[in-house]
Amino acid sequence: MEVLELFLSAVMAAAFCLSPSLVHAQDQSGFISIDCGITEGSSYKDKITGLRYISDENYTDAGVNKNISPKINTTGIDKQYLNLRSFPDGNKICYTLKPVRSKNKYLIRAGFLYGNYDELDDVPKFDLYLGVNWWATVTLTDASTLFTTEIIHLLSSDYVDICLVNTGFGTPFISVLELRLLDDKTHSNVSQLVGGRVGCGLANSDSIRFSVDVYDRIWSPLLPRDCEVKHTSYAIKSPDDDKNGVPNAIMQGAAVPINQSDAIVFYFLT
Ligand SMILES: *[C@@H]1O[C@H](CO)[C@@H](O)[C@H](O)[C@H]1NC(C)=O
Ligand SMILES: *[C@@H]1O[C@H](CO)[C@@H](O)[C@H](O)[C@H]1NC(C)=O
Ligand SMILES: *[C@@H]1O[C@H](CO)[C@@H](O)[C@H](O)[C@H]1NC(C)=O
Ligand SMILES: *[C@@H]1O[C@H](CO)[C@@H](O)[C@H](O)[C@H]1NC(C)=O
Repeated sequence: MEVLELFLSAVMAAAFCLSPSLVHAQDQSGFISIDCGITEGSSYKDKITGLRYISDENYTDAGVNKNISPKINTTGIDKQYLNLRSFPDGNKICYTLKPVRSKNKYLIRAGFLYGNYDELDDVPKFDLYLGVNWWATVTLTDASTLFTTEIIHLLSSDYVDICLVNTGFGTPFISVLELRLLDDKTHSNVSQLVGGRVGCGLANSDSIRFSVDVYDRIWSPLLPRDCEVKHTSYAIKSPDDDKNGVPNAIMQGAAVPINQSDAIVFYFLT
């Protein structure tokens, strides 16, 4: 099942003071952040999120580290995508992650940028599996466009295998792999592929992720046609039965039709 998380806030109508109990601790204890392809044993703190990314040496013993081609324009591309691990040998290669808490709900995100790292100008296509279950086909538009995919999954054991499968259309590789512990109360227990996550009040600004979103969900701006953004500086109190813990920064912005008698229409391309 593919879901698009879209939260519309009736921002002007429902502004309350934020109770301190709703403020989550901003730590990364339930996170695993792997920058595939960096030097073995190395790690760094990401400048944008403050998250610590580590090398993938302890998660897989296959593959070779590669840098993307210096000819690729990397303006605006996150550091995690500048290098990758490529798997020329073997049909199925797995990363085995053992998070701190087993049998919890996790957001798992994988990112890919081909970047012509092999100078072959031949964008590969391959499959991604979560354990034995098909997760996604990694379909890259071209050498300089990212592909990311995300799944929300309740772990049934104390580890999870994320696997790359060669389907005969080029060498599999991976740029970044992220595991984020979610609050067990949030999201469904059924595995969900997340097709996208947008904030309608984020027009013209950058995406939001950690630490504004304590679960490091990535929210992109999406302003529907003929709408404008309205903001409130009030802190928004989520309903007690809110299962999603949407960040205040998302709920404080809203898209409203410029002509108030118009409808708001969303177009989704699949
Ligand atoms: C890999 O595991 C070794 C041994 O447990 C540890 O010393 C090292 O810090 C780990 N490397 C990373 C990048 O986590
Ligand atoms: C690189 O990309 C940025 C942002 O997309 C763009 O503004 C810039 O002109 C590009 N640089 C070159 C040399 O193409
Ligand atoms: C979801 O899974 C958790 C942990 O396994 C369990 O405690 C809870 O009852 C489940 N909820 C539903 C609605 O099945
Ligand atoms: C707003 O929309 C209504 C209904 O479509 C239309 O009759 C009206 O002329 C529009 N107003 C403006 C200022 O465009």
